[in-house]
Amino acid sequence: MSTAWAPLRLRDVSVPNRVWLSPMCQYSADDSGAPTDWHLAHYGARAAGGVGMVVVECSGISPDMRTTTRDLGLYTEEQVAGHRRLAEAITTLGSVPAVQLGAAGRKSSHGVPWDNGGARNPVPPAEGGWQPLAPSALPFAGLTVPTEMTTRDGTRILEDVVRAARNAHRAGYQVLELHGANGYLFHEFLSPLANHRSDEWGGDLEGRMRFPLEMVRAIRIGWPEDKPLIVRLPAEDLLEGGLTTDDMVAVAARMGATGVDVVDLSSGALVPEAPRLAEPLHNARYGPRFREAGVLTAASGMVSEPHHLDEAVPDLVDAVLVGRAMLRDPYWALRARGSDPLESWPRQYHRAF
Ligand SMILES: Cc1cc2nc3c(=O)[nH]c(=O)nc-3n(C[C@H](O)[C@H](O)[C@H](O)COP(=O)(O)O)c2cc1C
Repeated sequence: MSTAWAPLRLRDVSVPNRVWLSPMCQYSADDSGAPTDWHLAHYGARAAGGVGMVVVECSGISPDMRTTTRDLGLYTEEQVAGHRRLAEAITTLGSVPAVQLGAAGRKSSHGVPWDNGGARNPVPPAEGGWQPLAPSALPFAGLTVPTEMTTRDGTRILEDVVRAARNAHRAGYQVLELHGANGYLFHEFLSPLANHRSDEWGGDLEGRMRFPLEMVRAIRIGWPEDKPLIVRLPAEDLLEGGLTTDDMVAVAARMGATGVDVVDLSSGALVPEAPRLAEPLHNARYGPRFREAGVLTAASGMVSEPHHLDEAVPDLVDAVLVGRAMLRDPYWALRARGSDPLESWPRQYHRAF
């Protein structure tokens, strides 16, 4: 049996295997930003579908750090109650419940994808949106020009991170992932293409990683020592003058020394023009470089065939996250495992075999 199905111990949490559901925004929160029946059915099916960990989609640390008004949040009691129901269901169905925390930065306040044929349309404050904040007043494609963050904004965002981490713990999640990639606030700070600041949060790589490291420290204030922390990081910007893999290995090492257990590798996505890698295992292929950083590694990105699991784990990464293949099929992991269905599938389904 492939190593992908071997358990993985992360601090005090034992994850039954290394095939995890990648966080994927469902844009289906209710008006208060809380999970709905859609989330319960969606994540419940995948938890029953044999993944070792279900990483619930990006949940905003504050109202203005969501991408859309239909994103989940983790900043009110109502949201915590909804997340608790989700975390309980994922646990009961045999998986480890995790949640991704997000701060959208300049990529916030747009419409849900199906309102505009998949493209992001800006939603101004007059239509229920809000003014985005970012390291520099540089817009993402056609979205609103963000306001450059002040020190006060930074302090408030760090307080929001502490509260969201605490709320994730109170909701019963066992693992937390911080979204540090895909062109959101954390990535915007790191990349010289989005961070033009001349204060202590800008300049060289050391300056540009200062606020992201503060975000990690803020999480560790609200998130218990015995629970693991993952950060999703770009392995590189894939753009002239952008972050290189050498930069990101250095960032990952600092993250590791600041309380991060696993880096979950992504790539590109700072701007729409960044190349989109499409070959199988494209992000996992960066994994061996990141082992130099002394952290465990994971990656999503076209892990879509069962044989990709053997190629990825353990040679490239310690765990994989599967995204779109698990939108198409909640039982992808059970099928990929290929073992006797009467041993691996839920017993309620045994008469199907
Ligand atoms: C509908 C959809 C929503 C997504 N939402 C998120 C998200 O909330 N957070 C995140 O880090 N990545 C998000 N992603 C990226 C996926 O987690 C994953 O990294 C990406 O799809 C590549 O993996 P795949 O080739 O297995 O799909 C999303 C992708 C899709 C298709």
